[in-house]
Amino acid sequence: MAKMWAGVTDGNTAQIADDFNSSIRFDSRMYRQDITGSMAHAAMLGARGIITEAEAGALIDGLQGILDDLDSGKLAFDMTCEDIHMFVEQVLTQRLGDVGKKLHTARSRNDQVALDLRLYLAEKNGDMAALVKDLIAAVTDKAEQYKDTIMPGYTHLQRAQPITFGHHLMAYAMMLLRDLERLADCQKRTLVSPIGCCALAGTTYDTDRRFEADKLGMHDICRNSLDGVSDRDFAVELLSALSILMMHLSRFSEEIILWSSWEFKFVQLSDAYTTGSSIMPQKKNPDMAELVRGKTGRVYGDLMALLTTLKGLPLAYNKDMQEDKEAIFDAVDTVEMCLKVFVGMVETLTAIPENMKKAAGEGFINATDLADWMVKQGLPFRSAYKIAGQLVARCMAEGKVLEDLPLSVYREYSDLFTEDVYHAIDLATCVATRISEGGTSVASVEAQISYVKEQLA
Ligand code: ARG
Repeated sequence: MAKMWAGVTDGNTAQIADDFNSSIRFDSRMYRQDITGSMAHAAMLGARGIITEAEAGALIDGLQGILDDLDSGKLAFDMTCEDIHMFVEQVLTQRLGDVGKKLHTARSRNDQVALDLRLYLAEKNGDMAALVKDLIAAVTDKAEQYKDTIMPGYTHLQRAQPITFGHHLMAYAMMLLRDLERLADCQKRTLVSPIGCCALAGTTYDTDRRFEADKLGMHDICRNSLDGVSDRDFAVELLSALSILMMHLSRFSEEIILWSSWEFKFVQLSDAYTTGSSIMPQKKNPDMAELVRGKTGRVYGDLMALLTTLKGLPLAYNKDMQEDKEAIFDAVDTVEMCLKVFVGMVETLTAIPENMKKAAGEGFINATDLADWMVKQGLPFRSAYKIAGQLVARCMAEGKVLEDLPLSVYREYSDLFTEDVYHAIDLATCVATRISEGGTSVASVEAQISYVKEQLA
């Protein structure tokens, strides 16, 4: 069939060219945004007298009818159309006749597609932000529940100092809070309207771009028409925010996988979020966490794909830019799914405090506290550090921990030692005395929890 844009060419493209060129199979998901944008455009054309108010009314009613019919399933997408924009215009013209042909006055598919994508991604940004909030709430609830559960804190994956599980979880709440900020920041630049930039140069019609932007809930307009149709920064920014978010989920996943291994057994995942093995009856696998970790690579790939697509493009619109959608849609779908699964997985996860406590008791993770205690008795830190190291070496040689050594042994290294040292190196004391802001004491973690709750409210 000859194309709507047949003019200088006869519009009779080869079937293979149509298949290659067409984007309706993936851009049809923006039909709501396309139609809403067109309604705002028709209203503006009417308000400025570019078409009559009656024509604008007919266009808006016609577009509403198409929207309703697509929503209800009465109308199906025509996959032979080039894209969603052509499809809507085609149906409108079939239904309204010549009036339908007036909709595309003072606009181009170049500003139209940029608008649709911005509106679509703004909505998705909101959906994902809501899910991130759900996840932060789930993590914070767990942190509250385990705010005095002692576990080893690690550096280099070596036992380092005692912390609480609540403290560890709150680290993720803080990361997710930054993700939320990044999404909100990206939203500011997404909700800027390109409509009215037209093909690239603006238009000779007396349009009102701000009228359209206002109607669509966008707070500003793109200030340069070439930039308006060429800019995909908002999509790159979203992909970048999503990549960072996925990096956080992937690190969290990695820890959940480690913690639920037999080697650690710090946590138990609910049966609802684990799978079995087809051969090994004893297996309970953390597939959800592994998949989130795996899908992180896919979202990074989407970011790289879009950056690479855009890097050599001259201004203004180039068809290469049609490739933006599959990348960003894939990322949005992936992240939404990962977030939903993660909320449930965290909500139903339980800690095994005995195992955490046991691991915390085996790694000399109170050695810093031993040194700090000596500093409080008047020794310079470096000297105290050295003595603590010698005591740890002694323990290792004798198969003991610091708590087991009798006072007489301590006094071989320094006559500053008194019975009080045992209280200082008790893990509960080590945690309770880390009262610095952001630290692991119950009070410090409670302050972190309140902060996050305030930020969410
Ligand atoms: N399907 C196109 C896209 O996604 C719409 C814009 C087409 N514009 C054009 N001048 N061919 O980018």
